[in-house]
Amino acid sequence: MVAEHVPTASIDDDNGAAAPIVVASNRGPVSYRRGADGGLVAGRGGGGLVSGLSSIEREAKAVWVCAALGEGDREAARAAGRRLDPEDTGGHRVRMLDIPPGTFAAAYNGIANSVLWFVHHMLYQTPLEPVFDKAFREQWAAYEAYNAAFADAVAEEAAQGAAVLVQDYHLALVPGLLRARRPDLRIGHFSHTPWAPPDYFRMLPDDVAGQLLRGVLGGDRAAFLTSRWAEAFAACCADVLGAEVVRDGEGRAAEVRCEGRVTRLGVHGLGADGDFLRERAHRADVEERMAALRSQIGGPDRRTIVRVDRTELSKNIVRGLHAYRRLLEEHPQWRGRVVHIAFAYPSRQDLAVYRDYTAEVERVAREINSAFGTEGWEPVALHVKDDFARSLAAYRLADVALVNPIRDGMNLVAKEVPVVSDHGCALVLSREAGAAAELGDEAILVNPYDVEATARALHFALLMDPGERAERTKRLAAAATALPPARWFTDQLRAL
Ligand code: G6P
Repeated sequence: MVAEHVPTASIDDDNGAAAPIVVASNRGPVSYRRGADGGLVAGRGGGGLVSGLSSIEREAKAVWVCAALGEGDREAARAAGRRLDPEDTGGHRVRMLDIPPGTFAAAYNGIANSVLWFVHHMLYQTPLEPVFDKAFREQWAAYEAYNAAFADAVAEEAAQGAAVLVQDYHLALVPGLLRARRPDLRIGHFSHTPWAPPDYFRMLPDDVAGQLLRGVLGGDRAAFLTSRWAEAFAACCADVLGAEVVRDGEGRAAEVRCEGRVTRLGVHGLGADGDFLRERAHRADVEERMAALRSQIGGPDRRTIVRVDRTELSKNIVRGLHAYRRLLEEHPQWRGRVVHIAFAYPSRQDLAVYRDYTAEVERVAREINSAFGTEGWEPVALHVKDDFARSLAAYRLADVALVNPIRDGMNLVAKEVPVVSDHGCALVLSREAGAAAELGDEAILVNPYDVEATARALHFALLMDPGERAERTKRLAAAATALPPARWFTDQLRAL
């Protein structure tokens, strides 16, 4: 995994061959940073998307096109020539694009994270934002250039008639741009986020809204994590573009016909990787962290409410803490008898609004601890340093898992907890998470804005009979692993 890059001008035959499958995503399977000795160190890229796509079979001769995210990545991308050293990438064939930093920042932070993410997750405080001004237009031009750079690279990598799987809101324009460059390709787009309903989507300037939809419709297929998001996309196409939505026998949106093209719609509910998680959750480092967590929790009779998230605005961590406080106020019997273990790992700290949100999470946690804490009991155990083994440890010992996003494409934590839980875990789940479509029968569903109802759900979950909890957990785990990542990927290829 550790590599000092030697520039290579020549590419071996296999590494340079045109690919029958190309995946395009902003974040790739590897990221580079400068090590202590000054050399570049390769590590696994983060995020749910990477977990899903990592199942790509190395033998499939797929090429993965991604962007250089930071300075380490840029240096590695420049040094590598066309593709990165497979030793760094876990065997994936990866082309990392060195897009000019200013263009990348405007496209990624300016448009993808601050506009498209906000639109699809409905995060704006609308009296003051969004404001689509001159600065927005400049960022939009950068987003177009960044999408064009991806389209150029994919067009170069793809073999005749290849299947191309384009990922997420970062690359919404790529299917259309690619179709113009390479009409022979089979192109699919996958959204890992929710899709905004038409009234919200139409906040975007009309031309931008149209461009985004036409971009995705440039593909042969547009796929989503749940039918709710596919329906929202179809509704936006009808509303903004006047497209025709063709429904299947069961009334589900199956095709969008627009401006002489037909784009099929698909739904693939990415599941947890059960085999990997069960094995990984029983390694020694996880056992060690369980012991550390147990001693932090205190007495053996104490219950635990666990949450594990990136510190992401859509995850609703602050309202989760308010609900926990209401639980302690309304049901004093839990004081001293429960600990809220909250893992809130740093995310997108380049954006001020994320830094402010992180500070607010920390402030509210402190406030609860100073209002309710006692000598031997710390009500909230907040950890902000990312540690996968510790997350698994918390999953294993959780009595209750709190997953209350404002809106979420799927939410894999909701699926991972029941898979590794030792004694069964009650799941309090937002009805606005995509996972609610598959887990709703066995979870305790909540309206994520309703703090009182979330507090009641936590109380109910803590009181759930252990037998019932274990039974529900079994059924949750079965539903959560119904579509493991490898099949999620091959299903999409087959359907293209
Ligand atoms: C989550 C979402 C993906 C998205 C990713 C981006 O994993 O589910 O839809 O692509 O975040 O996160 P990043 O840290 O790369 O901005």
